[in-house]
Amino acid sequence: MDPNVRPETMERITTPELARAFIDEQIAAVRAQVGDRKVLLALSGGVDSSVVAALLIRAIGDQLVCVHVNHGLLRKGEPEQVISVFREELGANLIYVDAVDRFLDKLAGVDDPETKRKIIGAEFIDVFAEEASKLEGIEFLGQGTIYPDILESKDGIKAHHNVGGMPEEFDFELVEPVKLLYKDEVRVVGKALGLPDSMVYRQPFPGPGLGVRCVGAITRDRLEAVREADAIVREEIGRMDPVPWQYFVAIPDVKTTGVKDGKRYMGWAAVIRAINTVDAVTARSVEIPWEMLTRIRDRIVAEVPGVNRVLWDLSDKPVSTIEWE
Ligand code: XMP
Repeated sequence: MDPNVRPETMERITTPELARAFIDEQIAAVRAQVGDRKVLLALSGGVDSSVVAALLIRAIGDQLVCVHVNHGLLRKGEPEQVISVFREELGANLIYVDAVDRFLDKLAGVDDPETKRKIIGAEFIDVFAEEASKLEGIEFLGQGTIYPDILESKDGIKAHHNVGGMPEEFDFELVEPVKLLYKDEVRVVGKALGLPDSMVYRQPFPGPGLGVRCVGAITRDRLEAVREADAIVREEIGRMDPVPWQYFVAIPDVKTTGVKDGKRYMGWAAVIRAINTVDAVTARSVEIPWEMLTRIRDRIVAEVPGVNRVLWDLSDKPVSTIEWE
């Protein structure tokens, strides 16, 4: 039997009971695979890696070493949440790496979107590899691979990779306890493992993070503005029912004229985007109620330094991609 093929008899995990049965099964399987050896896991705070971390903590406790790399492109409160949930609540063996300066220095002055992505991806692997080399006795690499990753890699849609795409030269055996699950099942399992809803029902977030939303060459001040405006938009649009599939802010590298306290105030335009989609291949812009839009506008101009204008991106995909870069 191919271990990368989901058996037809496997029931869809839709209830806490089914999730608990799956968790028990995987705990036994991981213990059998790993024994008393150690597993390393890149913990981004995304749904998949978080669920794998919580599962592996249950299975092997201290034999799991989690590494959380803060590349400076995470959303407001994310690194703090990873630390509080995993280190403080779940007692994980968590290494927190503050690599903010390292990433932002490498990205300084780079405005080409693909080059930005490559720098972020390569730097992530370098930082992770450096952390791995400091540790002794690691024999396994935990990965939040899920079933769509396997299916898409089989179909040649994208290379089979996860959380940053670990380099080939990492000579570790993989531990991938959720690799036969669909995303909705991963969420049910995450709930059953006690992870907070804000983690389990998180909207998708690109690997290069806010880097692709700080459009053009990233500067620290505009990145901070993206982070603050994004937090406001997530709070406000997060109240919609139903909540859109993805919603965020992008800030292009353009300053326009404004006025504040009777003086000229050059500032950026924060762009609000909210979309619905099934598979992210096509997407429709979501209608945001006017009252919500104006509240967001008022909050952003009042609370986010450097922003003097708020726009609403109501483009569909195609022709616009979901992200700005
Ligand atoms: P686009 O912009 O291509 O986005 O319409 C489609 C979906 O993919 C997400 N996205 C990424 N996710 N790494 C990721 O893990 C990336 O480099 C990346 N780029 C885009 C995007 O947020 C949207 O949900």
